[in-house]
Amino acid sequence: MNARYFPVPDRHMRRVYVITGGAQGIGQACAERFAQEGAQVMIADRDPRGADVAETIGAAFHQTDMSDPAQVRALAAATVARFGRIDIWHNNAFAAVFKPIHEQTLEEFDQITGVGIRGYWMGAKVAVEQMRAQGGKGVIVNTASVQSFVGEKGFSAYQATKGAVLALTRSLALDHAPDIRAVAIAPGLIATDAVKGIPEDVMAEVIASIPAGRAADPKEVAALTAFIASDEADYMSGTAVILDGAYLAIG
Ligand SMILES: NC(=O)c1ccc[n+]([C@@H]2O[C@H](COP(=O)([O-])OP(=O)(O)OC[C@H]3O[C@@H](n4cnc5c(N)ncnc54)[C@H](O)[C@@H]3O)[C@@H](O)[C@H]2O)c1
Repeated sequence: MNARYFPVPDRHMRRVYVITGGAQGIGQACAERFAQEGAQVMIADRDPRGADVAETIGAAFHQTDMSDPAQVRALAAATVARFGRIDIWHNNAFAAVFKPIHEQTLEEFDQITGVGIRGYWMGAKVAVEQMRAQGGKGVIVNTASVQSFVGEKGFSAYQATKGAVLALTRSLALDHAPDIRAVAIAPGLIATDAVKGIPEDVMAEVIASIPAGRAADPKEVAALTAFIASDEADYMSGTAVILDGAYLAIG
C-alpha cells in the first residue's frame, strides 16, 4: 500500500529553513513541506529552476554551487539578510556521477566530494556559526543514504560521501549539544530524477529487492524530515533515520 497523507501540522511556523538541492526531487518536496508547515524557506540550488519552485510556494531562492565555499557563505548571508536568522539547515544537494573507481576520473571524484563532503561541511559550518551568533539553537539535517550503511556496486565516490555524512553528523551533534541537533536522513529508493535514468529491467530488479515493493515518493522523505527538524524530535541527534521500505532489513 502506498503512503497516505494526513493533515499537515504547523510545527515550523516562522522558522527559517535552508534546503540545498531544492530545485527538484527530495529537496523540492522538503521545501514544499516546510513551507506548508509555516517555515520561511530558502531554496539553494545551482539550477536556476529553483526560482520557479520558490515562487510557487512563496519561498526565496539563492542560486548556489554548494561545492564553492564562497557561494555557501553567500547563501547563509543572503538567508540572514532576507529572514534575519537560520533555524534549520538541510544539506541535501549531490553531484550524481555514478561509476566504479576504475572508470572514474579524479575530476569527477572532486566534483562529487566537493558537494557531498566539502559542501556539507561548509554548509554545516556557516549554519553553526549563524546559530551560535543568534543564541545557539538550531537543527542541521544531512541527507545520507542507505549506501551510508551497505555497499552497492558502481557507486565508489558517491558511497564515500554518504559514509562521511554519517561521521560528520555525529561530530556536529557532539560538538554542539544540547543547543544544536544534527540528524542524518538515510533514504532508500526514492522516485526522483536521480533514479529516472536507471534502465527498466535494472529498476525491476531493484524494486524486487525492496520488501515494500516500491520506491518511495519524495513527499515521504519530506514528511519525515519535517518531524526530525521539529521540537517533537528534540531528543534525536547524532544519528541517522532510515527510510527504506525494509531494504536494509534483509542484511
Ligand atoms: N533518489 C534516491 O533514490 C536517493 C536515495 C538515497 C539518497 N538520496 C539522496 O537524496 C538527496 C537528493 O537526491 P534526489 O534524488 O532528490 O536528487 P535530484 O537529482 O532529484 O536533486 C538533486 C538536486 O541537487 C542539485 N545540485 C547538484 N549539484 C549541486 C551543486 N553543486 N550545488 C547546488 N545544488 C546542486 C541539482 O541541481 C538538483 O536540483 C541526495 O543527497 C541523494 O544522495 C537519494
